[in-house]
Amino acid sequence: MFKQHTIEQELSAGLQQARQQAFPDLAPVEDAATAVATGDERHGDYQCNAALALAKPLRRPPREIAQALADQLHDPERLERVTVAGPGFLNLRLRAEWLARRLELVQDDDRLGVPAPGTGRTVLLDYSSPNVAKPMHVGHIRSTVIGNALDRLHRFLGYRVVADNHLGDWGTQFGLLLLGFRHFADAAAYETEPIEELERIYVRSYNRSQEDPAWLAAARAELVKLQQGDGENRRLWASFVEHSLREFNGLYRRLDVRFDLVRGESFYNDRLPVVIDLLRQKGLAEESEGALVVRLEAEKLPVCLVQKSDSGYNYATTDLATVLSRVEEFNPAAIIYVTDERQQLHFRQVFAVSRRLGVTTRLEHVWFGLMRLPEGTFSTRQGNVIKLERLLDEAERRALEVVHQTSPAMPPAQQREVARAVGLGAVKYADLSQHPQSLVTFTWDKALALEGNSAPYLQYACARIASVQDKYREQFPGGEPRTVPIRLGAPIERTLAIKLLRFPEAVLRAAEHYRPNLLADYLFDLAQAYSTFYQNVPFLKAETGVRESRVRLCDITARTLRCGLHLLGIETPERI
Ligand code: ARG
Repeated sequence: MFKQHTIEQELSAGLQQARQQAFPDLAPVEDAATAVATGDERHGDYQCNAALALAKPLRRPPREIAQALADQLHDPERLERVTVAGPGFLNLRLRAEWLARRLELVQDDDRLGVPAPGTGRTVLLDYSSPNVAKPMHVGHIRSTVIGNALDRLHRFLGYRVVADNHLGDWGTQFGLLLLGFRHFADAAAYETEPIEELERIYVRSYNRSQEDPAWLAAARAELVKLQQGDGENRRLWASFVEHSLREFNGLYRRLDVRFDLVRGESFYNDRLPVVIDLLRQKGLAEESEGALVVRLEAEKLPVCLVQKSDSGYNYATTDLATVLSRVEEFNPAAIIYVTDERQQLHFRQVFAVSRRLGVTTRLEHVWFGLMRLPEGTFSTRQGNVIKLERLLDEAERRALEVVHQTSPAMPPAQQREVARAVGLGAVKYADLSQHPQSLVTFTWDKALALEGNSAPYLQYACARIASVQDKYREQFPGGEPRTVPIRLGAPIERTLAIKLLRFPEAVLRAAEHYRPNLLADYLFDLAQAYSTFYQNVPFLKAETGVRESRVRLCDITARTLRCGLHLLGIETPERI
């Protein structure tokens, strides 16, 4: 690894030091003194707003404080200019020479300058987690795509990631399924479309239980038998799980998603009584109307039910057992759950009870809003439940039409391969490029747009850069750009350089805030800066030296885009 820190971190360290020297009596806690990237180049490359916050404790005008900080910032090699602006902002402009040298190091680095702060730490990522015997709904799809991006980001940052697919493979619905299966399973349909068949059986069994108390009682009896380990019921249940997993795994393969663990809720079955004992021992649980609850008034949350009046356990009990087991087995720095917004209260309660049980591990619920899908395109008889499989087929089909237009001369097999990458990329990126908590409406036109913030746009940008590099090699055989120093003469080159050097900050921020869209925004911004660069400066016609420097910028841009897209789980075909 070539750099331990991002530019932002390095500048912040310098600012802290300046603050120390300028105001030695000020307690460090009162002052963040950090550098942040500016949105507008005219204000410098980085900005520090500490003077505004320090005005109060220091009882001095912010501009004066900013000037005092500026006077202490001795960093001539890195900083070209430090100016005080507006009410007391400190604007930092970096030296082009320094940027160029740093970019050269980035080009030689496999990690493109991204530090690995997670080294030696584990995060447990609970994502996708669909329910057995049901098709994945939109919520699970978003969880899969967002969770997988968080997985890749954390791994890249050096964390040991334990990706756990916490299948919903236990609970009351299995009594109804077992009973229903015995009465109206269609063996052939179960073989070819197991999930649809199980769903059909479930719906039929459920409906009957609503009008036939004897049926309901029989279903309960099946469930008890299952929970007590009855051989035949266990065998059938295992086959439901296996068939469902086979179908889920097909999707995961297609989406290039891999888990380290697939531990369903059933895995924790034997630990549920242990959780209840622990809660009782610690005096945390109390009886309420025959059930057992944990009061969470201090946290301003509704009571958390941990054991039902029929002494059955529920979703919260399972998640508590899961937290304890994960902490014990993996000692993670954080456990991250990715689900839709409807589970917010559930996780707040589970986290609160976990704290009371003494869990100190960071627990995070990353929730997202549900995505709206175009009317009619994928809805099944269930309304909002969609078949992901069909969505992906449709994406590839539409992408193939695009590829036929853009690359008519490409051999058909390659066209199909490109269409696969573009179609899947479009679907994933449509999801990842939005703030997870915003309400997204998916449209094909936007997802597959060749212009605009879409995967195809970024994938094409990579391919176009590759063809520019090819042209250079054709026209200047034997040229070795890496032996020529990078020069940032034109303003647009400087702009592009700064953006390239901010890649580590974008990766860190996306992981830190659990928001892959921060990386997507960065990549789109970078691709646009590159396109302005490419359109505005001569390239192959530039003088020797300048030309090679520009080829180097191309190479770093392409690698940054590819690396960033890879972190989002999106492939970048060499040629499009
Ligand atoms: N199976 C659940 C559902 O479909 C999601 C599970 C999320 N993870 C967890 N540990 N609760 O809603």
